[in-house]
Amino acid sequence: GNFMELLKNKILTDGIVNDEEVLKVDNFLNHQIDVTLLNEIGKEFKRRFSDVKVDKILTVESSGIAIAVIAAQYFDNVPVVFAKKQESRNLDPEIYKSKVYSFTKNKEYEIMVSKRYISKGEKVLIMDDFLAKGGAALGMIDVIEQAGAELVGVGIVIEKSYQDGSAILEEKGVRVESLARIESLKDKTIRFK
Ligand code: G4P
Ligand code: NA
Ligand code: NA
Repeated sequence: GNFMELLKNKILTDGIVNDEEVLKVDNFLNHQIDVTLLNEIGKEFKRRFSDVKVDKILTVESSGIAIAVIAAQYFDNVPVVFAKKQESRNLDPEIYKSKVYSFTKNKEYEIMVSKRYISKGEKVLIMDDFLAKGGAALGMIDVIEQAGAELVGVGIVIEKSYQDGSAILEEKGVRVESLARIESLKDKTIRFK
């Protein structure tokens, strides 16, 4: 609809392609935040997931937080939980942990969520800014499974469809709703699917 065109235009006008892998959107999503646009993103996620019950939204720090918080207002103000990242050695048994490999940064890190904040049977919607190779999403799904909670879907602002993440999630039977889907960044040109 109209919003999808707005988001695509924003990506085309403000997005910067540094190489063929990474799209920089610091101007509205990853550094400076366009609140009006984020608000529309929140509404669109609600529209896409209006058919499912959502008890909680799960994201990972840092860029996911603003998106999840603004969107939560359209999901009856459900709580937002963000997975924390840390280097190592937290032996607290009250924490769910999962190892995530970041392809962008070429290193492994852990995400952690306190057992207090995800409970058995809860219906959890994952949100994030980007879906690349799926590392962050798979880590969050692992946490949801450890908790015995139920994944209802994954909401992504920008999916890079030419990387593996979306295919891996679909293969697992995960419902992914991506607001913008990029087919290619070849020749420093942004092409949508
Ligand atoms: P993956 O989770 O899908 O496997 O991707 P990857 O490990 O490569 O992602 C690592 C970080 O880079 C994530 O943010 C992710 O959102 C971001 N990212 C991936 N591809 C792009 C891209 O093309 N452009 C931009 N701007 N970001 C991308 P993060 O490092 O965990 O941190 P934060 O920004 O949320 O703090
Ligand atoms: Na992110
Ligand atoms: Na990011």
